[in-house]
Amino acid sequence: MWHGRFKKEMADEVLDFTQSLDIDWRMAECDIKGSLAHVQMLGATGLLKEGEAKKIALGLEKVLEEVKTGKFIPSKNLEDVHMNIEARLTELEPLGAKLHTARSRNDQVATTTRLYLRERLKTLRDELKILLQVFISNAERHLNIIIPGYTHMQQAQPISMGHYWLAWFEAFKRDLERLDFALKSLNESPLGAGALAGSTLPINREMTAKILDFDCPTRNSLDTVANRDYMTDYHYFASVLMVHVSRLCNDLITWNTQEFAFIILPDEFCTGSSMMPQKKNPDVLELARGKTGQVLGNLIDLLVTLKGLPMTYNRDLQEDKRGLWASLDTVESVVRILSALLEKVEVDEKIALAGLEKGYSLATDVAEYLVMKGVPFREAHLKVGRLTGWCIENKISFGELTFEQWREHIPEVDEDILKILSPRESVSRRNTYGGTGFSQVAKQIEAAKKIC
Ligand code: ARG
Repeated sequence: MWHGRFKKEMADEVLDFTQSLDIDWRMAECDIKGSLAHVQMLGATGLLKEGEAKKIALGLEKVLEEVKTGKFIPSKNLEDVHMNIEARLTELEPLGAKLHTARSRNDQVATTTRLYLRERLKTLRDELKILLQVFISNAERHLNIIIPGYTHMQQAQPISMGHYWLAWFEAFKRDLERLDFALKSLNESPLGAGALAGSTLPINREMTAKILDFDCPTRNSLDTVANRDYMTDYHYFASVLMVHVSRLCNDLITWNTQEFAFIILPDEFCTGSSMMPQKKNPDVLELARGKTGQVLGNLIDLLVTLKGLPMTYNRDLQEDKRGLWASLDTVESVVRILSALLEKVEVDEKIALAGLEKGYSLATDVAEYLVMKGVPFREAHLKVGRLTGWCIENKISFGELTFEQWREHIPEVDEDILKILSPRESVSRRNTYGGTGFSQVAKQIEAAKKIC
């Protein structure tokens, strides 16, 4: 389609090296959608006669049908999805030769990719919302279950398991916001930017933008064909989401070990060992964690591709899609399977609590109790720290200390100290806004429901 100025045919190996059909064919339907808008605009502006535009549109519909039914066998010799569709259109309808009026593949590929990405992001958005709902329903299911909260992987303070699930709700809700940003960032129409500088023909860019449901046409034709920020925005969203996935999976893998043992994973999401009959392995969680690197890699891949590129379009940009598809496929499958798995996660309340009772995770509660008795916090911290040290040496838990022993170590305590020494009491009393107190978590569940 561009051989006019060449004396020799393209070498076979160059054709193979430069084609992008294997990557971009999946955008065929979106490409036709873009062309339909373009041809409608060409008709409306008088650049094509009304009848011509109609015939081309009809031809495009036929090609669309062939694509949908799998009848269309594209050829690598035609380089990419765009040329394949135009060539087939022109075979069916010779007026197809007029379709590429006031258009370049540079604005075309940007349009098609944005349309495709928009569809995929909308599906992903629905999946992500399901995941958010799973966090909410898990928070409801496990509101009253107490688990150890950790910092540095050391028992810190008892928390409601519902609070834990809502922590992930918050993180993934931010991911949803980043997804929405990526959607907004892609939603401007490149069509009509041409190869780089616009067109001498009186096209109507507002019109094509409107037909294709874009918010507006892009404002600078140079930027339009050079820009891939809408992809980096997606990749950044996807990378952060996968980092969240990876950390969540890691928690569940750890808490599912025989050493922690308070998380029970659904059998149907685990696998066995070919040798060890006792094994129930958390492979789904491990694979989700394991796929994170690829998604992060795809962000870096695109950033590095873009880094040295001069304004405006350069063929390097054709390399933008491989990683995008890989990332979209991965993220979609991870989010979907995670929702299904998490919905079925159970907590062994007794084991979670038994683990807590061995530790000294109520130390802060005691220090804060002393603060209420008028002891300065630093002093209270020191006293409880010393008592903890003594208890560890003497292999005794806070719960096992008699009131007399408490008094001996910390003269400021009264008998009511004994009342605050259960993990349930501790969680109930952490009632600050955003804290783990049951009533706080219940409020946050209600707030979350309003968002999702
Ligand atoms: N297949 C190309 C791509 O994906 C289409 C644009 C080609 N433009 C060009 N000037 N060679 O980027």
